Amino acid sequence: MKKSFDINADYQPESFEFSKAFQKKVEEAISLYPKGRQQSAVMPLLDLAQRQVAEEGAKATPVYGGWIPRAAMDKIAEILDMAPIKVYEVATFYSMYNTAPVGKYLVQICGTTPCWLCGSDDIIQTCTKHLGIGMGETTPDGKFTLMEVECLGACVNAPMVQINDDYYEDLTEGSMKEILDMLSEDMKPKIGSQKARKASMALSGPTTLKERAKKAGVV
Ligand code: FES
Repeated sequence: MKKSFDINADYQPESFEFSKAFQKKVEEAISLYPKGRQQSAVMPLLDLAQRQVAEEGAKATPVYGGWIPRAAMDKIAEILDMAPIKVYEVATFYSMYNTAPVGKYLVQICGTTPCWLCGSDDIIQTCTKHLGIGMGETTPDGKFTLMEVECLGACVNAPMVQINDDYYEDLTEGSMKEILDMLSEDMKPKIGSQKARKASMALSGPTTLKERAKKAGVV
């Protein structure tokens, strides 16, 4: 579950401005919607604010990850000419928007039934032990935050976690530790299945349409 939105928390900055580079992306996002419907851009603008904070956080000491301060939501409300509460409503509803500070690597562990049946409890235990933090907590160096989430739509390769924009699937205790170790060194672990599986294909290879799979070069 994501951390709650506390508009008066000490960590809330006084103000927020989009950088020049992000301002350009903001304008591009708004231009995709018909005139008079610019408020529909609230979701991409929230995403851009979160990404800008993540870029700033990657250079800070200690590091931190992408989240959306209240000041950024107010700025978005001003840009889109809408009531701030409407921006807060969207930001607090969706789990992909972090409304409180998180670590540089936000480890979202799926604990829904298919992942749970395939061992998500072991993955949770591996992460908490290896990082020395509980669910919803952040490591003191600001690198990792752990969170349990509901189904992320990759059940076929359960158990899985999402870390920032990437999915890591078919996890075992060993592969989970390796991923965390690589990220703690800011290296890029292999994304997707951690076994020899292609996409969501059976581990033994295609079971139907074999000729087509061969032609498409997937086996
Ligand atoms: S249950 Fe974990 S991805 Fe669907």
